[in-house]
Amino acid sequence: MAQPLLIRASLLNPVDADHWVFYRDGGVLVHEGRILGVGAMSEFRQQPVGAMLELDSLLVPGFVDVHIHWVQHHVRGRFQRDLMEWLRNHIWPEEMGFDNELFARRHAQNFFHDTVRAGTTLGMAYSSPHVRALEIAASEAIGDWVLGNSIMEKAAPEPLCRASPDNADQVAPLLKKLGREHYAVTPRFALNCSAALMRDLGDLARRENALIQTHLSESVNEVREIREAFPEAQDYTDVYDRAGLLGPRSVLGHCIHLSTREHQTLARRGAWIAHCPSSNEALDSGRMDLQAIRRHGIRYALASDVGAGPSHSMLHVMQRFLAQHRDAGVDVNAREALYHATLAGAECLGRGDRAGSFAPGKRADFVELPLPDGSGGPDHWFESLLAGEARDLEERPLRTWIEGHPMETDFDDEDDDHWPPPDWD
Ligand code: GUN
Ligand code: ZN
Repeated sequence: MAQPLLIRASLLNPVDADHWVFYRDGGVLVHEGRILGVGAMSEFRQQPVGAMLELDSLLVPGFVDVHIHWVQHHVRGRFQRDLMEWLRNHIWPEEMGFDNELFARRHAQNFFHDTVRAGTTLGMAYSSPHVRALEIAASEAIGDWVLGNSIMEKAAPEPLCRASPDNADQVAPLLKKLGREHYAVTPRFALNCSAALMRDLGDLARRENALIQTHLSESVNEVREIREAFPEAQDYTDVYDRAGLLGPRSVLGHCIHLSTREHQTLARRGAWIAHCPSSNEALDSGRMDLQAIRRHGIRYALASDVGAGPSHSMLHVMQRFLAQHRDAGVDVNAREALYHATLAGAECLGRGDRAGSFAPGKRADFVELPLPDGSGGPDHWFESLLAGEARDLEERPLRTWIEGHPMETDFDDEDDDHWPPPDWD
């Protein structure tokens, strides 16, 4: 039987928002895609190993992105303006193209190659409303992904909208086909759905213990439109609460313009926030009140929200997270950033036992960041990487390991050069 592989490198292992464990000379023992052990190299002296790989690198767990739109990847960071205008004039017309299977497959391949190249090994993504595009994405996924077709019944171009019974009827078979681990019930946001449809979706998700993803309180104009569309609700959060869409398996994107009552509701329901700092900045949506989120004990994980987010790199997201809250005088640090881009994301997606950190029994999914010459302490280097200039982070050379297999990442970033895609075997 094959012996385990011992990888020797510096390691940063997130524990919680305040702590990581750093091994300057660390080891990860990997066997058949699982982690058998992690610690200082000295702990592995007596360990029989098949092979040892010595890397002049810093290893961190694979990044987790809990809110990204794979169908917007090719237009990420473009058309930046107010959310509602951006959706109506640019994004929805763009998503209409995903009724074409060839177009969908090509974009799915580009998306998964790019995200794995940037170190993302687990994520949850919005698809367009087209069921076939969702199935194509599921078949092209690299790494561990949860996907959901955006459910839209109104207030958007007609080709994206489905009549309500069709919407609800589509979800159960997709959930069965992809499985609870890989399918999320995805009412796009309340403006696209009636209260009755959201109730049906909430009932189904609760019955099946499915993940739910949607958007909540991203822009001031959106909140105003919600108030007009749902006069019976106390506030935006209450629109979802009345529909039974808030629970520990719910992941709500943005959550910027919330009242104390809304924070209390989210905390009471145990719902998760997908915090999208780079996207919030790009659309000028506002800054999520991190201090209020902490005070109420609401759990959150970081997310790129590509295409409003300009980059799918979670390094970039961590960097904007730190810069944005620091600029507002909030005390944040690299420990909190790394935890929320890895282990918190895995917990958010129900994989805290399998992913998100180096621990025996977890998947051997991690990111290798080559250390530059004279980088000083690798932990300090990581902090300075996140505190530095944002521009090059998407292009940062790194290697992603998924279940023990290093993924080569030296291909060009241009869409056209990915077709046909490189062979990953
Ligand atoms: N709200 C509803 N749809 C979207 C979307 O595609 N992106 C963002 N950022 N917000 C949304
Ligand atoms: Zn989004």
